[in-house]
Parts: sequence; structure tokens; C-alpha cells
Amino acid sequence: MTQYRITLLPGDGIGPEIMAIAKQVLQVVGRQFDLSFEFTEALTGGAAIDATGEPLPPETLDKCRDSDSVLLAAIGGYKWDNLPRHLRPETGLLGLRAGLGLFANLRPAKILPQLVNASSLKKEIVEGVDIMVIRELTGGVYFGQPKGIFTTETGEKRGVNTMAYTESEIDRIGRVGFETALKRGGKLCSVDKANVLDVSQLWRDRMGELAKEYPSVELSHLYVDNAAMQLIRYPKQFDTIVTSNLFGDILSDAAAMLTGSIGMLPSASLGIAGTPGVFEPVHGSAPDIAGKDLANPLAQVLSAAMMLRYALNQPQASDRIEQAVMKVLDKGDRTGDIMAPGMNQLGCKAMGEAIIKALS
Ligand code: IPM
Ligand code: MG
Repeated sequence: MTQYRITLLPGDGIGPEIMAIAKQVLQVVGRQFDLSFEFTEALTGGAAIDATGEPLPPETLDKCRDSDSVLLAAIGGYKWDNLPRHLRPETGLLGLRAGLGLFANLRPAKILPQLVNASSLKKEIVEGVDIMVIRELTGGVYFGQPKGIFTTETGEKRGVNTMAYTESEIDRIGRVGFETALKRGGKLCSVDKANVLDVSQLWRDRMGELAKEYPSVELSHLYVDNAAMQLIRYPKQFDTIVTSNLFGDILSDAAAMLTGSIGMLPSASLGIAGTPGVFEPVHGSAPDIAGKDLANPLAQVLSAAMMLRYALNQPQASDRIEQAVMKVLDKGDRTGDIMAPGMNQLGCKAMGEAIIKALS
């Protein structure tokens, strides 16, 4: 029996509800595939602030470092929105990314045939869309120095952030882009703002250099404003996108919304080989529906499937979970966020039970 140590970070809002279901799903596929999971829960985000006064307690980071992989639900909520920046749940998330060296964020946006009508775009535009957005996650303007709010000589305040990338930072995310494109449709679109930003010019130059190592990948470049437009205009032109931290933050939300159902999308954040990755839904903590048994647990369940595939090298167990999700959707089961006329509306727990049933 293969043993895995998994750290669970349920976080805030709907996090604990959807995490409970993903955990059950892992236990069931574990029995089916002879895998044993040892789960450790740790505090993060608002829950950690309430319990310990900080959003990422050192023991949480230690537990994560000590495990084979990390499954995160979601963090944040109105309650903590007005705290000073170093105490906000988001700062805990950034600390987790930096602390584990998670420089590559993989955010797939794939339209499921069962949910094609959930998109706000026309069916012809979105049908068949299958995009992987690869976002650099530990550099760029999110982390660049100097940063802060300073007072100028005239006594006026001045807010500063710095968008900076070194060649090695660009190369390592670029390689993830090329390698991923190789395993997918063979097309990589690098997104930057090289017409204005020097940091983007370096990015574009390095992507061009790397392309020589990957002759079978078709590399293209787009400016970020055009990329945003193209995602809405003709999303099927994209296969794999690679971009910097801030541009990826924005474009991955746009790409996710093409599917019309952000409650369905998993993501992976990966560091150098041998360090644990973090798998989490693309959606947030949805504090407005927390504790009401209304949340869609499917992105969390699919994040567990992504973890099995990318971190634990258990593609068959991963397939089993993804197939169970498809079965449930084929049957017409829906949570409120993806509900459509004639379908069968379920709460979070009942959706979990439907998946468990579909697993066997
Ligand atoms: C995301 C989120 C985070 C980010 C926030 C919550 C810090 O928007 O994961 O996309 O900006 O990276
Ligand atoms: Mg975001």
C-alpha cells in the first residue's frame, strides 16, 4: 500500500464544507486503489488569525513542508478585510506560496459539455474551449522591492510596487509553459506588455530564447490587453498560456469565467521537484453562502484529483474521480451555482454523496 501524508488547509467561508467532501472522496478512492492517506489539518487565513493572531502560523508552514502534498480550500472573508495588510488572510496565502517556493500556478479552464450553457458567452464561442493558464506565482509586482507607502519630501504619500523578474525566474516558468504545451496541444502563447514595460521585454526575449529548445512547440506572443480581448473574442485559439504573476491573476479569472462556472475549476501551485505542491479551487471562500450547505464542492474534489495526478503520480485514481464528477453531471445533478432548468438541485452534502456513489 502506498502511503501519503496530506496537509489539509480548510481555511474560511465555505472552505471547511467543501474540504470535508474532498477528504471523503480521497478516502474512498484510497480504498479502491490501495493508497493510504494520512491527513493533518492546519490553520490558515482568517481561521488562523482568529486562533493565533496571524494568517500563516509557522506550524502551518512546517506541516505543509513536512507533507507529500497540500490541499487548500479557500481563505478570506469580510470579517478580516479591514485588518492591516500583514494580518490579512491574503498575506497568509502569499506567505504559503513564497514559503513553499510555489512559482508555477496551473489554472485550467475547460468547458464541460454538460455546462456549456452556463457560460455568459454564446455556445459557438465557448464549446470545446480547453485552456491552461500558467501563472508565475512568486515574483513580479506581487513580491518586487521596493514596495510600500512612503512619504515624499513634499509630505505627500506615494505608493510603490515594483514589477521585476530575473532571467532565471523567467526561464523556470517559461520551461513549465513549454513542457506543459508539449503534453497538450503544442501551442504556447506568452503574454506580456513588452510595448511598454522593460520587465516584459526581458520576458519576451527569454521566451524567444527558450523556444529554440522546444522546436515542436509553436510559440506566440500577445500583449496583455489584446490577450484579454482575444479570450473573450475567440477563446478556442488558445491552448497553453504562460504569463507573469499579475497578468496571470487577471487573465485566469477571465479564462475561468468562460466556463461560466468558477465553482468547477481546480488549480495547482508547484515548486521545484521534491517540494510539496498546493492544490486548490480557483474560486474564493464565498462567505455569503458559508455554512448554508449551498456550496459547490466540485472544484475542491477536482483539486484532489489534480493532486493525485500531478503530485502523487496516481493518474488512475485521478481519472476515477474526474469520471465520477462527469457521471454526476450527466445524471443532471447540479448545485445552485450551475443549476439549469430541468436539472436536479442539490446542496453541498448531497452533491458529495452523489460523487461518492458514482465512485463505486
Ligand atoms: C488568486 C487570488 C489571490 C491573488 C489573492 C487572494 C491574494 O486572487 O489566487 O488569484 O491575487 O493571487
Ligand atoms: Mg485572483
